[in-house]
Amino acid sequence: MTAKTDRLAPRYPIYVANRAEQPNESLEVHDKYSGELATRTALADRAAIERAIAAAVKATPAMRKFAPFERQKVLEHCVKRFTERQEELAVALCIEAGKPIKDSRGEVSRLIDTFKVAAEEAVRMPGEVMNLEISARAKGYRGFTKRVPIGPVSLITPFNFPLNLVAHKVAPAIAAGCPFVLKPSERTPIGALVMGEILAETSLPEGAFSIVPCDIKDVAPFIEDPRFKLLSFTGSGKVGWDLKARAGAKKVVLELGGNAACIVDADQGGRLDHVVERIAFGGFYQSGQSCISVQRILVHESLLGALREKLVARVRSFVAGDPKDEATFIGPMIDEAAAKRLQGWIDSAKANGAKVLVGGGRKGAMLEPTVLENVPHGEPVYAEEAFGPVVLLEPFSSFDAALATVNESHYGLQAGVFSNDLTHTMRAWDELDVGGVIINDVPSFRVDNMPYGGVKGSGLGREGIRWAMEDMTEVRLMVVRDAT
Ligand code: SIN
Repeated sequence: MTAKTDRLAPRYPIYVANRAEQPNESLEVHDKYSGELATRTALADRAAIERAIAAAVKATPAMRKFAPFERQKVLEHCVKRFTERQEELAVALCIEAGKPIKDSRGEVSRLIDTFKVAAEEAVRMPGEVMNLEISARAKGYRGFTKRVPIGPVSLITPFNFPLNLVAHKVAPAIAAGCPFVLKPSERTPIGALVMGEILAETSLPEGAFSIVPCDIKDVAPFIEDPRFKLLSFTGSGKVGWDLKARAGAKKVVLELGGNAACIVDADQGGRLDHVVERIAFGGFYQSGQSCISVQRILVHESLLGALREKLVARVRSFVAGDPKDEATFIGPMIDEAAAKRLQGWIDSAKANGAKVLVGGGRKGAMLEPTVLENVPHGEPVYAEEAFGPVVLLEPFSSFDAALATVNESHYGLQAGVFSNDLTHTMRAWDELDVGGVIINDVPSFRVDNMPYGGVKGSGLGREGIRWAMEDMTEVRLMVVRDAT
């Protein structure tokens, strides 16, 4: 069975200061599997971006006054409309990102979760009453803190989760009371633009939001304009760290990549089928194009043979093809260039001694799901973020050695540890240099209210609504001295 594909409008407007606009410069959006033109939108030019920023600045006082219950109503409206338009959003995502329809539906349900959590958090920004009487000179003083919106925020999002990674920036901005200007990926702008259509139905103050895909040559204001008080970027490390260097005095939140590891401890022999099933999912869902996709599998040497056999058999059984087909698990990578880049890394590893256990071939943007073994640690497919359907198998002899291997990476987003040994799991939590340790599952686990983000090359700051709202607000103190 194939999902209905006649749900895309022929053209989608962009949103400047809450209003739909149709600039002349057209942006074609292609079906990432067939390559056919799927729909069109537009690219904002510098003048439109300037209008968006100026409107966000002007909207700042109104957004500050927009009460938490009013912000909550906006977010609840989004939840309702996303729910009504679920299948349309999933189909658009499937087409514009090439994401298998089942994964696309999963992402829409996460989009709804993310806005639900934001609607709850919008009315929950806590303050503190502080005892300041820490010494004689402070006798009679009390402190009170509250959080105030930081001001206009600049948001830049990637192609791999065109709905939910947009939601992780837009929903907390609304909940925190910050006007925003969003640049969605120009490869997958449609989900964000449908979000714009829905936000335009709400009572958000004029100028509170703009959603403006734009050409890379026009992106500088998103990064450098000092009127923005925060830049939140999700994407590659190479781009992210460069943006940070150019961002000036504004706060910067970076959600970057990883080469996530998953440890399978010696005591997992009795549940290997389950472990392999989770690793096969974590390594290959949406063709590995997730920052927390399993890349490095570290398996205790006693289980290597059995795990290898089961994993290869499972990978051979994947259905690859048209993402609109309900049975498809492996769809295309975002474009042929991305697939070629990763195939080059596989070939380099092969030339330097790696063994291909399954896969390795490519047709256009369709890269075969691939399992490699004996990959030298200096190879890009090991040391860098593969961001594609490739996993690497590697034995370890002691748990300590496995922890050290995970930490060799210059990334540190999430790690998975399958182990029944409480001492091992606690040591992993203590010692792994990552943003999150997932015990008894793959690193590819995320629910949308948990703190999510990395250390080292994987970024700065955390998303997950509450944490993003903290970044998008400042602590404001009031000190009261008792009247004498
Ligand atoms: C990412 O690729 O960083 C997002 C992963 C997710 O939200 O599941």
